[in-house]
Amino acid sequence: MKILSIETSCDETGISILSLKGNTIEVLGNALASQIELHAQYGGVFPAMAKRAHAEKVTFLIEQALSDSELLEAVDAPVAGVAEQLAFLDDKETTLKEHIVPFLTYYAKPDIDYIAVTVGPGLEPALWVGINAARALSTIWDIPIIPINHMEGHIVTAAIQPDETENSFASQAETSTQVSDLGNYSLSKRVFTFKPLTFPLISLLVSGGHTELVLVNGFGEYEKIGQTRDDAVGEAFDKVARMLDLAYPGGPKISALAKEFREKNIDNTFTLPRPMMHSGDFDFSFSGIKTAALYAIRDHGDMGEDDKAALACAFEDAAIEVLVYKTLKAASEYNAQTIIVGGGVAANSYLREEFVRQVLEQTPDTKLLFPEPWLATDNAVMIGLAAMTQIISGEIKTASNDELKADGNLSL
Ligand code: KG4
Ligand code: ZN
Repeated sequence: MKILSIETSCDETGISILSLKGNTIEVLGNALASQIELHAQYGGVFPAMAKRAHAEKVTFLIEQALSDSELLEAVDAPVAGVAEQLAFLDDKETTLKEHIVPFLTYYAKPDIDYIAVTVGPGLEPALWVGINAARALSTIWDIPIIPINHMEGHIVTAAIQPDETENSFASQAETSTQVSDLGNYSLSKRVFTFKPLTFPLISLLVSGGHTELVLVNGFGEYEKIGQTRDDAVGEAFDKVARMLDLAYPGGPKISALAKEFREKNIDNTFTLPRPMMHSGDFDFSFSGIKTAALYAIRDHGDMGEDDKAALACAFEDAAIEVLVYKTLKAASEYNAQTIIVGGGVAANSYLREEFVRQVLEQTPDTKLLFPEPWLATDNAVMIGLAAMTQIISGEIKTASNDELKADGNLSL
């Protein structure tokens, strides 16, 4: 059983090929192109630019991932009528069509059983590129499509565990990032199994667009119990970074500066509020911390490197304290013995350290699951994994080409 998965919801174009044998999932191919350099020039993601970048790269990445998986073969004679069958791309997806028609004309149908594609949430023009690429492959190859919620991908990714015996042979070269003319491209031949889980569990989802607490009663059974009322935490990281003149995306840069400050072990002259920490519900608010950071910077005047590190640390302390506090409270209230943290901000090392420290201190029996750092930020492996949970449970929800549509605000 093999799945080709597609992720284009924001600023990463990702294609993965996963195979499932028994309980074992192997990443056969994983091609990822980041748009970070493109968007860094403007300090954020513009949907129309993101769409164009996805459309220019997605076909090449499909080719690369299939070729790495040894599933790509040229046809003996060109496939006839591809352009005509893909007429649905004519108005809005001319760039995609320009690349994908020759690809589908000169390569044979690969040994793939399903195509999984992100349909939301995210930037709609960007999501449509992935969906239309999936529709094109499905039309010519006659392979069914499983639509996937991006946030489910973030949850499921924390629930896999690497199969160390299988992975021990993987050389550094196989798991490292290679630089090609595409920007970033990484191939990770890795083997995983799903961890045995006890439901319900609590999942904290922290990304550039979302901050949510989700009660997970089983894969596919989600209940949102709290969310941000304004900015997502990743967005707040990025905005505070911009105030400090750090390049987009600012999250990792704030994190590095904060670490530098913490290692000095000195008192911080900046303190920022913990909005809604004791609100009695599971909602969050991050715009207040962000505004307080803006005033602190303004009142301080000239910010040297040390001041920036101190402010980054004050911001990280405040944001992460609220996240950890509310997540542990939710786990206790819903009697969840497992906490899953997912989304780009789950790559943050201080967030991980604080979760570990506080769980050990307060509820040492609680199991904490994080994605491997290379799977925390957006990628297509997570989309394939979410589809795998449907295949394993036998409840596969496919959609016809006409039913598929992008939903920027898709909820769990
Ligand atoms: O999940 P993701 O890759 O994309 C969305 O679905 O939004 O999350 C991206 C977000 C960005 O806001 C980025 O700044 C943040 O995750 N991020 C981090 C770190 N790495 C990525 N935030 C804090 N610390 C990090 N190490
Ligand atoms: Zn994401």
